Amino acid sequence: MSGQPGLDYRFDTRVAVQYDALRGHPPEVSGDIGRAISSQVGERARVLELGVGTGRIALPVAAAGCEVYGVDLSAHMLAALSRRIDDDGLEGIHLAQADITRLPFREGVFDGAMAVHVLHLVADWAGVLAQVSRLVRPGGTLVLGRDWVDPESFAGMIRNTFRKTVVEVGTEMLPPGATAAAPPSGGAAIVKTLMALGARPVGEGEVIGAEWRTELTPRQVLDGIRSRDDAESWVLPDDVLTETMRRLDAFAAAEWPDLEAPQPVTRRFLLGVFRFSG
Ligand SMILES: C[S@@+](CC[C@H](N)C(=O)[O-])C[C@H]1O[C@@H](n2cnc3c(N)ncnc32)[C@H](O)[C@@H]1O
Repeated sequence: MSGQPGLDYRFDTRVAVQYDALRGHPPEVSGDIGRAISSQVGERARVLELGVGTGRIALPVAAAGCEVYGVDLSAHMLAALSRRIDDDGLEGIHLAQADITRLPFREGVFDGAMAVHVLHLVADWAGVLAQVSRLVRPGGTLVLGRDWVDPESFAGMIRNTFRKTVVEVGTEMLPPGATAAAPPSGGAAIVKTLMALGARPVGEGEVIGAEWRTELTPRQVLDGIRSRDDAESWVLPDDVLTETMRRLDAFAAAEWPDLEAPQPVTRRFLLGVFRFSG
């Protein structure tokens, strides 16, 4: 289930077009995220973004004053971002179509780097972090950002049940003798790898970069996962997704009598901040 370098076939035109509609942050939230990241890396910092996508994070970080160098494999995602840069007349974003496992930059050239929802797509994420530790100057900063959904909310319950079911179904469907694919690279393994590379976490745990509330229905959340508009379902084989959705639909129907009724959800954008030894 974890991605291989080059396995970006799902980041095609359909995803590039829908990405911002489905995953975009409200404008004021984007502003908060841009300022929160720039305050960690330095206001005029030169920052590398791994898997820049459509610029959901790069655009507000550049608007907050940083010089952002965004790398992505997907020509479609980069084309969507180029259009937004032109539309906004924004300077301070530079794009490169490249594989983050082979980053085309000189050592020590960046003040900071950031990665949001991308390392779990790359099998050799540890190798990517090793490169980042060389490209970021001593004393520079790495920000690992992620969207957070209140686990106590209905959307958080669907998300957690989805993750558990994917592991169950994936394991049941393996051919005899095969071993289960590693789950997406988790937080603890990343922290351990970064510390071995000479980086130290800044502060106690993750920082809240932004917090906001939305209203969604259980049906919307289920359909987002089913239609692969959800980041975690993009990479699943068809048979695993079909069976997972059968079980997830049954879970939701038992839990909420009206799947069309909107419910509030608290969301956050969290930053894990690391500093490379100076
Ligand atoms: C889930 S999207 C996240 C985009 C952006 N970071 C965000 O949070 O909006 C993941 C992005 O990583 C890119 N990607 C995946 N594997 C990659 C690789 N090996 N090298 C470069 N980009 C990659 C995809 O093309 C996609 O644009």
